[in-house]
Amino acid sequence: MGVPAFVDARRSIRAFTHDAVPRAVLDAVVEAACVAPAPHHSRPWRWVVVDTDAGKAALAHGMGERWRTDLAGDGVEPARVDELVAASHEKITGAPAIVLGCLTWDGLDRYPDEARQHAEWGMALLSLGAAVENLMLAAADAGYASCWVAAPIFCPEDTRDALALPIDWLPHAMVLVGRADPAYAGRARPPVPLEDLRAHR
Ligand SMILES: Cc1cc2nc3c(=O)[nH]c(=O)nc-3n(C[C@H](O)[C@H](O)[C@H](O)COP(=O)(O)O)c2cc1C
Repeated sequence: MGVPAFVDARRSIRAFTHDAVPRAVLDAVVEAACVAPAPHHSRPWRWVVVDTDAGKAALAHGMGERWRTDLAGDGVEPARVDELVAASHEKITGAPAIVLGCLTWDGLDRYPDEARQHAEWGMALLSLGAAVENLMLAAADAGYASCWVAAPIFCPEDTRDALALPIDWLPHAMVLVGRADPAYAGRARPPVPLEDLRAHR
């Protein structure tokens, strides 16, 4: 049977044309995200569409400064730190649109012990992943390219504060969206070694 064509069609595209993404398209992809499965019929995610120059600059600055501190703490050479942070800044400010996926505790269960509390948050994170995949599939279906960028999961509070989001909106995923640069050539997708990746019992 193979992989359905609409699933196979989504690839991570890291270079975009300068075309803006209409807000109607961004609303449609966020709506697709919001029909993802989630624990207890909750909707623990919030979505922030960042498509203004000011928003992108604030996001790039907030995450960039945090990354600068982390890299310096890791002992990375100052010149290399500048280079990495500048590249990250360019990636964010150069994207036509960005959708940030945030997690909240809205609708989630609370437990008195840390282990179950951690598992509950893990469920919400899994759900956010499903929602982000929905978002990217919907973008691909509408003719838009996207790329999931991990950065906010390393600094949710800094990302939140950079955009003055509500205190309980914690950004965990960042998706760049735009029209694919026709010159961009991604890696070929390797075949799926099903025999290695799944088992039967
Ligand atoms: C949680 C997560 C974080 C990711 N972070 C990044 C990232 O920071 N930068 C990037 O270029 N791609 C990132 N990706 C995209 C992966 O590199 C990409 O999905 C993978 O190489 C497979 O390629 P494909 O999406 O084209 O099938 C991320 C993907 C996931 C699921």
